[in-house]
Amino acid sequence: MGYVFLGPPGVGKGTQAKRLAASRGIAHISTGDMLRGAVKRGTPAGLKAKPLMDAGQLVPDALVLEMVDDRIGEPDAREGFILDGYPRNPKQAADLDALLEGEGRAIDCVLAIELPVEVIVPRLSGRRSCTKCGAVYHVTAHPPKVPGTCDACGGQEIVQRPDDREEVIRDRMRVYAEKTEPLIRYYEEHGILVRVDGRGSVDEVSTRVEEALQGAGAA
Ligand code: AP5
Repeated sequence: MGYVFLGPPGVGKGTQAKRLAASRGIAHISTGDMLRGAVKRGTPAGLKAKPLMDAGQLVPDALVLEMVDDRIGEPDAREGFILDGYPRNPKQAADLDALLEGEGRAIDCVLAIELPVEVIVPRLSGRRSCTKCGAVYHVTAHPPKVPGTCDACGGQEIVQRPDDREEVIRDRMRVYAEKTEPLIRYYEEHGILVRVDGRGSVDEVSTRVEEALQGAGAA
């Protein structure tokens, strides 16, 4: 199975994609996580991506395509994959179609998570993550059990992402509206888009994701 999670920054794509990948036993492929990993390791790709990410801009299509191409060929992704944060513009959507077609694979369902902007901003500004393992928290909705200590790896640095500052959030929302939102229509026209209401608790949204996949015959 191949799934794509689409939606503005902070709607819960990563949270839901991780859960769905765990329950299905398939690969969670987050281009944002891969890029942050490259930045942390100081690779050439990371050095190129960092200033763009910090400014809320998209990194070059070719750089992201290479990462996705490598990752989608790994053994765990052979069973199925969830793309989180990719594709992000029409060129990336065309690149992805060509990549999958070349391997005799396809996207079964695109889940577009929807959330009013007044709910998105507090989700983003309250997000924190572990610098060691990348586990994601929220200051009120999902804090670590022991304050300042990562539940997953015991890491002691739980920090705000540089692009979750208010001024960058505004730019990310603009980039989404201009470059990524047109993909909703693209996948609607391909008959594989389902919309999911992102309001409510993480469990409530997960239930809606499962129902949407059942309804689309893509479970
Ligand atoms: P990326 O990491 O993909 O960021 P994004 O798309 O902006 O998405 P987010 O990670 O901000 O949000 P999310 O929807 O995953 O929400 P989450 O589940 O964490 O990309 C970052 C940057 O990398 C880009 O700006 C760009 O520069 C670059 N990049 C990445 N991919 C690229 C590509 N394909 N091409 C070019 N450049 C690319 O949830 C948010 C918070 O809310 C968390 O704290 C979470 O705990 C909380 N939360 C989640 N669900 C709920 C709920 N139901 N109730 C309460 N709180 C909740």
